[in-house]
Amino acid sequence: MRLRTKDLTMKFEDQVVLDRLNLDFSFNSLAIIGPSGGGKSTFLRVLGGLIEPTSGTFAFDDDWAAFEEDKLYQLRKQIGFVFQSHGLFPHLSALENITLPLIHTFKYSKAEANEKARVLLERFNLEHEKDKYPHMLSGGQQQRIAIIRAVAISPKILLLDEPTSALDPELSAEVLIMLRELAETGMCMIVVTHHLGFAKNATDMVLYMDEQGIKEIAPTTQFFTSPKSEDVNRFLSKLMEF
Ligand SMILES: Nc1ncnc2c1ncn2[C@@H]1O[C@H](COP(=O)(O)OP(=O)(O)OP(=O)(O)O)[C@@H](O)[C@H]1O
Ligand SMILES: [Mg+2]
Repeated sequence: MRLRTKDLTMKFEDQVVLDRLNLDFSFNSLAIIGPSGGGKSTFLRVLGGLIEPTSGTFAFDDDWAAFEEDKLYQLRKQIGFVFQSHGLFPHLSALENITLPLIHTFKYSKAEANEKARVLLERFNLEHEKDKYPHMLSGGQQQRIAIIRAVAISPKILLLDEPTSALDPELSAEVLIMLRELAETGMCMIVVTHHLGFAKNATDMVLYMDEQGIKEIAPTTQFFTSPKSEDVNRFLSKLMEF
């Protein structure tokens, strides 16, 4: 996946969070890391068409985003979102949570939607949980169902904002293993994460941003072995210390 941005700018009142970004790089699985308040979620939300940038635009491969309602709808339809908390519907079973967008947005028949869900539930060893409601599932299982729901629509890219930050380490691990498998089997993704281990082992590019902007975009190995930016160095050593 190639990502390009053209003077992409996002301001809230007089606070400039994204400042005329002109990026052009390719990745399969991209980690976005950096300190709190640096604009990671804002960047992801802009790329997902959830908020409109103040100015400028961006493209995944050759599809330049346009900010009219119907074009944004088309953009959002091609993107799988996963947020910090899973956002499953509490009154629907795991299976129904997965099939709802397929049936309503993508016009699958119920049988086709169930079949698509079944294949994914089996692939990720969740077939026994399919009839449970969210409150009957562990946090890790809920988040894995949310990921299946996002993957089921065959998105061209998955955008994940700290998908494990609400989970205990053990449950985080099961979610991260699932994401690594998806990345290894060719699912394009952008993951905002604080898990440096995950970034190291499951992504091929890393982007670092803080309040001053994007300081580094580099292939993962290079990012961790020889970061060019002093700020990245400081950030990494601070996290390694504890
Ligand atoms: N809707 C909004 N209205 C006003 N300011 C906002 C809004 N959304 C984000 N901001 C501001 O933009 C800046 C970047 O926020 P953002 O949530 O993108 O950071 P982040 O890197 O995701 O941080 P964290 O690691 O804590 O999640 C912050 O100063 C935040 O207060
Ligand atoms: Mg955030």
